[in-house]
Amino acid sequence: MNKKRLPLILLYSTFGILMFDSCQLRNNEGAGESESRIESILQQMTLEEKVGQLNQIKGNYSTDIYEQNLEIEKEIRTGRVGAITPNVDMSQKIAWQKIAVEESRLGIPLIYSADVIHGFKTIFPVPVAQACSWDLNSIEKAERIAAIEMSSQGLHWTFAPMLDVSRDPRWSRVMEGPGEDPYLASQIARARVRGFQGDDLSKENTVLACAKHFAAYGKPEGGMDYNSVDMSERELREVYLPSFHAAVDEGIATVMNAFNTVNRIPASCNPLLLKQILKTEWNFQGFTVSDANSFNELIQHGVAKDKREAALKCILAGSDTDLWGQVYIEELAQLIEDGIVDESLVDDAVRRVLRYKFKLGLFENPYKYFDEERENNSLLLPEHLEASLDLARKSMVLLKNEDKLLPLEKGKYRKIAVIGQLARELEERDMIGNWSAAGDMKDVITVWDGLSEKVGENTKLVYAKGMNAWGNYSEKLLRKAVETARNADLVILAVGENGYATGEASSRTDISLPGDQEKLTRAIYATGKPVVMLLFNGRPLTFLWESEHMDAILECWEPGTMAGKAVADVLYGDYNPSGKLAISIPYHAGQIPMHYSRLNTGRPSKGPDDKRWGIAGWADAPNEALYPFGYGLSYTTFSYGDVKLDKETMQIEDSLRLSIAVSNTGAYDGEETVQLYIRDLVADVSRPVKELKAFQKVFLKSGETKSLEFTLTAEDLKYWNHEMKFVADPGEFKVFIGGNSRDLKEAKFEVQKVRE
Ligand code: BGC
Repeated sequence: MNKKRLPLILLYSTFGILMFDSCQLRNNEGAGESESRIESILQQMTLEEKVGQLNQIKGNYSTDIYEQNLEIEKEIRTGRVGAITPNVDMSQKIAWQKIAVEESRLGIPLIYSADVIHGFKTIFPVPVAQACSWDLNSIEKAERIAAIEMSSQGLHWTFAPMLDVSRDPRWSRVMEGPGEDPYLASQIARARVRGFQGDDLSKENTVLACAKHFAAYGKPEGGMDYNSVDMSERELREVYLPSFHAAVDEGIATVMNAFNTVNRIPASCNPLLLKQILKTEWNFQGFTVSDANSFNELIQHGVAKDKREAALKCILAGSDTDLWGQVYIEELAQLIEDGIVDESLVDDAVRRVLRYKFKLGLFENPYKYFDEERENNSLLLPEHLEASLDLARKSMVLLKNEDKLLPLEKGKYRKIAVIGQLARELEERDMIGNWSAAGDMKDVITVWDGLSEKVGENTKLVYAKGMNAWGNYSEKLLRKAVETARNADLVILAVGENGYATGEASSRTDISLPGDQEKLTRAIYATGKPVVMLLFNGRPLTFLWESEHMDAILECWEPGTMAGKAVADVLYGDYNPSGKLAISIPYHAGQIPMHYSRLNTGRPSKGPDDKRWGIAGWADAPNEALYPFGYGLSYTTFSYGDVKLDKETMQIEDSLRLSIAVSNTGAYDGEETVQLYIRDLVADVSRPVKELKAFQKVFLKSGETKSLEFTLTAEDLKYWNHEMKFVADPGEFKVFIGGNSRDLKEAKFEVQKVRE
């Protein structure tokens, strides 16, 4: 089957044509033209070269799991590599690209990939924190900056955004995701795709985005990373797929398979997910990539006896490219030659890859991402740091503020004790998180630095470590911390998780403050000083005792490079906190999955403390979250008027307009996130008690009132009925509007269908 090597002269002219034609391509405009170029390249490719485009390798890096032992340069020269995840400097990236373009038979350029999850060198808050900002423009901007920085270092493709909705904070990867709600996650998905890809992928500062992990990775059994997922197709489509659908709709270039099985079939070879939903129903035109080595893992999943069978199942299911597994490159050509796989399947996958190499403009100029000027002048720019600070402040959620302890008044406290290793002596990836790309600890502004700048000369700051974020107990350090607190007028206490405590493969059964940190919080509380507790963590933790005893609690997450400055701005009221939880914080890990959008059950409780026998609730915990989805305080207060509808009955093809007056009734100017939920009271299948359908952010001066308008259409009311049809039904609905998923104003409306 292998085509003969083309004569040299023809080779050069082939490459010449490629270069010439692609020069004329202005990506989005010249799609037709590039499609015909793709066909012409395909015609010239040997089977090995085709499969080579589907093969992605790690550049100069090998671990026990991903043993490659490849001669990378030879692989590139022979056309056996389509993309590389390079862990190398710029000159090596250029050298490899040169081999691909000048020494391989068809001169097809490589693409370089990397995990740029929440910033490249300028690190932004972890994604779950960003989601708590509900600020889509700021999230888009963060990804724009990440794209500018990574592309300046020769990288074309990020393995982000991670779009796994999750309702299980035991699962260590909630940190990378958009939280628990499919609607919020979908809006964030769109913003992230726009940020990375911009409006023109051929620009040198835009990158390919990758929606991952497709799909349902966020609901592993027991919250254990990589574990199996079993769920109804309804739940899959209603909760776990919408964020991916939104990303595809927004034009995302690539999609990554999840590691897990979905209803017993690994996501990497799952035809329902890949062929049926992604490529047919959603008409996805980009290419898929396996997760690291996930094609090989079909063997461990017990659905393939060897690599050959794994390759067969993956290509038949619609998986396009292989990340670090060497499964396709070793097996696909033979499967085709043996007549087992139809070559058209490989052609389709190759087309998809080439399409994005064209869109990136790499055929036009394979070296466009290697520009010394940009390389040296794109990282940690003042405007990047400013954007990171802005998003860090917006991501922080004020959970408690007893007796208005916050904001702190400058000079009021003569001595402030700053306690906790996380406030000053950063370890490992503290503040910037596990997935912080090229982020460097030495660029981080610590809480200590931020406060030192802020407090002014009338306040003295004193520090004691107390304990590190793994909660390693030391009598001596604890005693010193207590003494330091005793001698101060106020304590700022930093507790939470080490930067490596969340992220891949770090699931926990117990999500309380790690180690002995509760000993520290109790000891500091016992000094009787007012305490502001700062939480730094990548997942919701349980901290019931602290929530009952601390005077103020600020959920800071892992805030990124500008951590300490953001904290100081919030504590001193230079920024009025506006973050709202994108994921509920339970009382106890035993409540998990604890989320706001549950079904009613046949025996609903009357409230959090309804302990009657025979109702759906817990005997030993409240029947709701400690801090629910959408919750977050401000230094001011907001009040809501009644929900007003323009009509009580909506015809199904019509729309419903709603309005509500929101007032700032407190002493500070501030921003509120106004959330709209619905409930379908009687449907064909049981519907959640609340579903987020819209939100708006509104800035109100102290004393100001604004009326906000929302519109609902049948699209917002649709659900998967018992026949798995996506429909809106007539009937009664409730609508709720307010500042979190629990405290809401409500109204009713009816939907009618005139023509059946
Ligand atoms: C992770 C992915 C990541 C990939 C490449 C995998 O282990 O699950 O999220 O993109 O590695 O680093």
